[in-house]
Amino acid sequence: MSLANLEHQARTELESCSDEAALRAWHNKYFGKQGEVLLALKKVGSVPPEERRSYGQEANRVKEALTEAHDAALAKVKERALAQSLNAAAVDVTLPGRPLTRGRWHIANRILRDIAAIFSDLGFQIYRSREVEDDFTNFELLNMPPHHPARDMWDTFHTTVPGVLLRTHTSPGQIHVMREHCPEPIRVILPGMCYRYETITTRSEIMFHQVEGLAVGARVTMADLKGTIVAFARRMFGEERQVRIRSSYFPFTEPSIEVDMDCIVCAGKGCSLCKRSGWLEIMGAGMVHPVVLQNGGYDPAKFSGFAFGMGPQRITMLKYAIDDIRQFWTNDLRFLRQF
Ligand code: PHE
Repeated sequence: MSLANLEHQARTELESCSDEAALRAWHNKYFGKQGEVLLALKKVGSVPPEERRSYGQEANRVKEALTEAHDAALAKVKERALAQSLNAAAVDVTLPGRPLTRGRWHIANRILRDIAAIFSDLGFQIYRSREVEDDFTNFELLNMPPHHPARDMWDTFHTTVPGVLLRTHTSPGQIHVMREHCPEPIRVILPGMCYRYETITTRSEIMFHQVEGLAVGARVTMADLKGTIVAFARRMFGEERQVRIRSSYFPFTEPSIEVDMDCIVCAGKGCSLCKRSGWLEIMGAGMVHPVVLQNGGYDPAKFSGFAFGMGPQRITMLKYAIDDIRQFWTNDLRFLRQF
């Protein structure tokens, strides 16, 4: 077949290709391994020498022209297919978009951040301490030798490694921070998770946050402790809050106190939230015991300090009238989305 005939035939056939499959077949026929265009190019060797040059040039021109025609046809077919599919499944651009769901802070984290913000304003830094502790720091250095009956206040998860446990409170962090900074003055809060081997009820969980507070320096007094607590309670729960302190006992503070706040629902008159007492318990606290100061590296003759420990989940429950502490880790979005 002459080159002119080849080009004519290929163009005619190309014109009748109406979809991609037909174009593929056409391409294979002319440009495949045994394709006619390639065969025509190879034939240059058998052409008489004086015609070889012009034959070669013409064969290349035909090849390029057909390639170009094929690409144009393919583009047209694709465009048509796209137009068809757009018509078939028309998009209604007037439909409102689907809103993206935005995440938010878990209420437990939000309260921790609120508490941290309040204490930052009061000049406290945040110190993070480990959740896996040793018995020595969780109890002994806090003035509770082995077999001390006060250990019964904290039901403990022990690990299979003797002497290693999950901290039952954030108080061992007091020891870490004191040993790291003595003899400098300290004003820190220590937020974090604590663990207790307890029956889970609406009021107690086996894991919960605590926020420990510690201030150590020359002439730190009970008045400083009280002022700090009052400032915190008022910022957290409102300027009108009243605070009262009762005497209590912790092995690592002396004297020890329990802190109540007038009920945020009835303001002291008595209701179901405060169980008719008019008061809500918000934290334990006291003046750091001389033995604990010493274990932290401070001379109790020169330094004094106060410490407190509160449960932010409890505080959140008061603030939002949540009646079941288990809600915090249940991950029920109906609960979490309220905050
Ligand atoms: N660690 C005590 C508890 O878990 C709370 C506390 C902290 C009391 C600091 C006094 C001082 O009950």
